[in-house]
Amino acid sequence: MTHTIDWIDLTAASTFAQGHPWDAYARLRREAPIAWHPEAAESGSPGFWAVTKWADIRAISRQPQRFSSAARGVMMEESDEASLAAQRLMMLNMDPPQHDRFKLIVSRGFTPRAAAGLTERIHRLAAEIVDDVIDRGECDFVQDLAGRLPSGLIAEFMGIPRSDGERLYELTEIMHTTDLAVAPPERKMAAIGEMLAYAAGVAQEKRARPTDDIGSLLVQAEVDGEQLTDDEFQWFFLLLVNAGGDTTRNLVAAGMQLLLDAPAERSKLQTNLDGLMPTAIEEMLRYTTPVVHFRRTVMEDTEIRGQQMRAGDKLVMFYGAANRDEEVFTDADRFDVARTPNPHMAFGGGGPHLCLGMHVARIEIDALFRQVLTRMPDLHAAGERELMASTFIAGVHAMPVRWTAQGAL
Ligand code: HEM
Repeated sequence: MTHTIDWIDLTAASTFAQGHPWDAYARLRREAPIAWHPEAAESGSPGFWAVTKWADIRAISRQPQRFSSAARGVMMEESDEASLAAQRLMMLNMDPPQHDRFKLIVSRGFTPRAAAGLTERIHRLAAEIVDDVIDRGECDFVQDLAGRLPSGLIAEFMGIPRSDGERLYELTEIMHTTDLAVAPPERKMAAIGEMLAYAAGVAQEKRARPTDDIGSLLVQAEVDGEQLTDDEFQWFFLLLVNAGGDTTRNLVAAGMQLLLDAPAERSKLQTNLDGLMPTAIEEMLRYTTPVVHFRRTVMEDTEIRGQQMRAGDKLVMFYGAANRDEEVFTDADRFDVARTPNPHMAFGGGGPHLCLGMHVARIEIDALFRQVLTRMPDLHAAGERELMASTFIAGVHAMPVRWTAQGAL
């Protein structure tokens, strides 16, 4: 029998105002791991299948022919055909074989080796971010620390000035905001246009004068004699700035919040940074799960856990729910910086779309936490934190903190 979710609205930002709805996820996993979630008539969709078990998300993510990213995109909200056509220029919204070809070309820039090549620069970037605030003794952790990482990273990645990276990050904020008063559609379109035009300039420059950055590698990379077209490069650039921005910022801010709330775990980590940083990072990813969900479209009539689905149905995978699945994680609601094994799904459920930037993200997170935990060892909360109310990205909007300023030591 189909379980219809009429007791919580997973499409309402207010449901996520206090973070992921962990209790609702637990009930769904227990009572109805594949449940029908109706949607309001004006959404343009009758509803979707909410998927909350780790094993199901894993299986769905690995069968792109049956569960498509391209058919209707990967966002929960419906898009019109014009918007879908633009979205399909980004690999996130492609299916194989088109996705395979694209991934072959760009993946050279994202191997563990390529990421390792950025390590020194990312550590320098993290040190400079902390240098800028260390003497103040207080700041907003989200704006002044976590939020400065992604713009700096994209600058290092593409070999462009840091101030340009900051402008690009402002543009993504305009694209992402759901507040129409701040960003009406014309302003969003203008932001997209500005970013694509900037990317076109980067491609031209890197083709003319290639250096050792990943931007140069991407414009030159070839598979079977084929390179990325100008359009493909520009939309990929936009995807990178978008995908690598809010996610990392929120992981770092929410991760710090976890450490502040769990002093015993923080002290374990702080006294054994080299030993525990790798497992602590994975646990922060599992426990906070910055990307709330992605959508797929069912391509042929199919059945999961006895639940019949029709071709054309919408299906939404809730990664946070999978990351607390008690069938996979012992003591799943406990934050444990030494947890191992930790097969979390913060970077996706596996298969072709698994996060391309995960190696770089781990290096970024490691670099910033090392700086903060060693140079601001007594950092503590200094006011109310504000969480983000979004159905798509879980994280922290503002988080005032204080520490003993260096000059005062
Ligand atoms: C904590 C940080 C991050 C999180 C939680 C995260 C999460 C994700 C998730 C859930 C997906 C979709 C996986 C799927 O559909 O199976 C994804 C895809 C992607 N991510 Fe990340 N990401 C992070 C950082 C980054 C960074 C730093 C970059 C770039 C430098 C990046 C680039 C991408 C790209 C290009 C894709 C699309 C891959 C594809 O469609 O094949 N991400 N990410």
